[in-house]
Amino acid sequence: MINGGDTVAELDRFRLDGRVALIPGGGGAIGSAIGSALAGVGAKVVVVDRTPDRADEAAARACALGGICKGVTADVTREEDAERIVKETLDAYGRLDIVVNAVGGGAGKVLFDAEVYPRDAWDWIYELNVRSTLVATQPAVRAMIAGGNGGRVVNISSVRALLGINAGYSAYVAAKGAISSLTRQWATEWAKHGITVNAISPTFVDTPQVAMLLDDPAFKAGVVNRIPLRRVAGTEDLTGAVLFFCSDAAAFVTGQILGIDGGLTATQ
Ligand SMILES: NC(=O)c1ccc[n+]([C@@H]2O[C@H](COP(=O)([O-])OP(=O)(O)OC[C@H]3O[C@@H](n4cnc5c(N)ncnc54)[C@H](O)[C@@H]3O)[C@@H](O)[C@H]2O)c1
Repeated sequence: MINGGDTVAELDRFRLDGRVALIPGGGGAIGSAIGSALAGVGAKVVVVDRTPDRADEAAARACALGGICKGVTADVTREEDAERIVKETLDAYGRLDIVVNAVGGGAGKVLFDAEVYPRDAWDWIYELNVRSTLVATQPAVRAMIAGGNGGRVVNISSVRALLGINAGYSAYVAAKGAISSLTRQWATEWAKHGITVNAISPTFVDTPQVAMLLDDPAFKAGVVNRIPLRRVAGTEDLTGAVLFFCSDAAAFVTGQILGIDGGLTATQ
């Protein structure tokens, strides 16, 4: 009990019963962990992925213990697909409360010196990270505004939005900088509709996207030695922050970029 005998249990403010969440990229390593976490606190979850099996498998995992989930195949860099997933969500569950943008990455695949960074690699990273977030969010937020119940948008930035790295990351640092800036911009524009917009900003997360880098013991030691908590993140390190941003407990929190980096940015 809180507030001197208030009948509202504090933990109830973290539950999402009756809320509907859309997760573009929900078939990926981080997105699927977020989908399971949202389902675990009562949300109905629509897992969207470009890869059909990933969407369906992650939806099944999310609802393994009960709950309601749905896998949908879509490419959220295509506006017609983004419109369709919102329509399918509204048709299935009647409302849309939360969008968590979990499409992105690609950093380690296109590393080039800044002075010769190729346009095609630059455009690919922007498509994957910025366009996907923009195109998926716009129709979702239009539905939230029309629904009149407010809403939650959570983006995934990276410590790379804040920290340069002498290793060919020009496009990725710029793209994640854009995600952090859009998070603050959207927060200011959509507050009048009761929609909050926040982002998490992780350091390396132990996922297939970065497995090849972290499999190199010297590289991993270099990473871990810079992190005060002396390890990389697991996906479970990210989910609590996302749940918080999606919850009623975070009703007055918007435009924030939460570092989940074991203290890395605190050292800079
Ligand atoms: N893994 C890390 O170390 C790390 C660190 C910091 C930030 N991040 C960020 O976290 C986010 C998720 O990363 P991840 O490691 O889970 O990646 P992932 O590749 O495992 O997941 C991304 C998912 O998005 C899907 N996808 C790609 N393009 C799509 C599109 N156009 N439409 C629909 N689905 C699409 C992919 O099929 C994949 O399932 C990214 O934004 C990434 O930059 C990751």
